[in-house]
Amino acid sequence: MATIVITGGTDGMGRALALEFLQRGDTVAVVGRSQEKGQSLLDAAKDTAGRAIFLQADLSSMSANRRVIEALRAEFAVVDVLVLCARHFRSTRLITDEGFEHTFATFYLSRFMFSHGLVAQLERASRPVVMNVGGPGEGGEVHWDNLTLAQGYDGFTALGQAGIANDMLGIAFAEAYPEIAYVLFHPGIVAGSFAGEYDAEMEKMIADLTETGRPVAEAIVPILDAIDRPQSEPLTVLAQGAPIELFAGVDWAAAKRMEDITRPLLAPYLTPSVHAS
Ligand SMILES: NC(=O)c1ccc[n+]([C@@H]2O[C@H](COP(=O)([O-])OP(=O)(O)OC[C@H]3O[C@@H](n4cnc5c(N)ncnc54)[C@H](OP(=O)(O)O)[C@@H]3O)[C@@H](O)[C@H]2O)c1
Repeated sequence: MATIVITGGTDGMGRALALEFLQRGDTVAVVGRSQEKGQSLLDAAKDTAGRAIFLQADLSSMSANRRVIEALRAEFAVVDVLVLCARHFRSTRLITDEGFEHTFATFYLSRFMFSHGLVAQLERASRPVVMNVGGPGEGGEVHWDNLTLAQGYDGFTALGQAGIANDMLGIAFAEAYPEIAYVLFHPGIVAGSFAGEYDAEMEKMIADLTETGRPVAEAIVPILDAIDRPQSEPLTVLAQGAPIELFAGVDWAAAKRMEDITRPLLAPYLTPSVHAS
């Protein structure tokens, strides 16, 4: 039986994946913000052969990321699969108490913390996989001198920047830990919960996307396939299961630059023995 960790596992694709693994009899640790949604997952898990654990955390907080990662490390010697699904869109700019732009923190920095923070546990698995569900190949731009988007904030600008940062995370991680299969996965438009805070114009768009998006149950099929049959390459980039190219300019040099910027930002929250470069 495998041990799976899922961030953003209380809704949308993360929750559906959690329930699928629980049906198989796996142990699934779900990290999410809402206690109520966490309890709902634990209730649903009672009808499965698996074991579910819920860890409540607001992943926009790096202190909370560190607390949860340390709890996971204490609980599990081995993690077979790490699924990264937490994301929260914001029409308006928000800076967290720790000084990070909210989307960058929740969508990218948290994924950096989890990917690197669970390396030791992943390395003990026979076929470890990190499944980073985001928007690879979609474009976007890193605003190297304006990472908090103090100028020119827009929800899509923030989403694109954090998405590209995730692609760079995948490149650098795969280079550092080639024995762990890292997958950057674009699911297409899916009728999940679209977690976020939207202005009136965006709310209309989200209502449309909820109607036209693919069902969650359908969208997780190629994600499960990529987890069950990982490629031998350290990094795989897929859109709905098919290989794609990363956006032009998202290369090793950019990935190294992003890692060099990220580590000092996260230094107060990284556990040295856990997050060694
Ligand atoms: N759906 C799409 O059309 C689409 C398209 C492209 C890429 N993706 C990618 O696919 C992934 C999953 O999408 P989805 O639509 O299934 O997601 P979703 O339904 O919007 O669910 C997002 C999950 O993240 C959690 N979350 C959000 N903010 C959090 C925070 N601060 N701390 C902890 N947990 C937090 C949510 O919990 P709460 O509900 O409590 O906030 C929820 O469990 C996302 O990462 C996204 O990047 C989705």
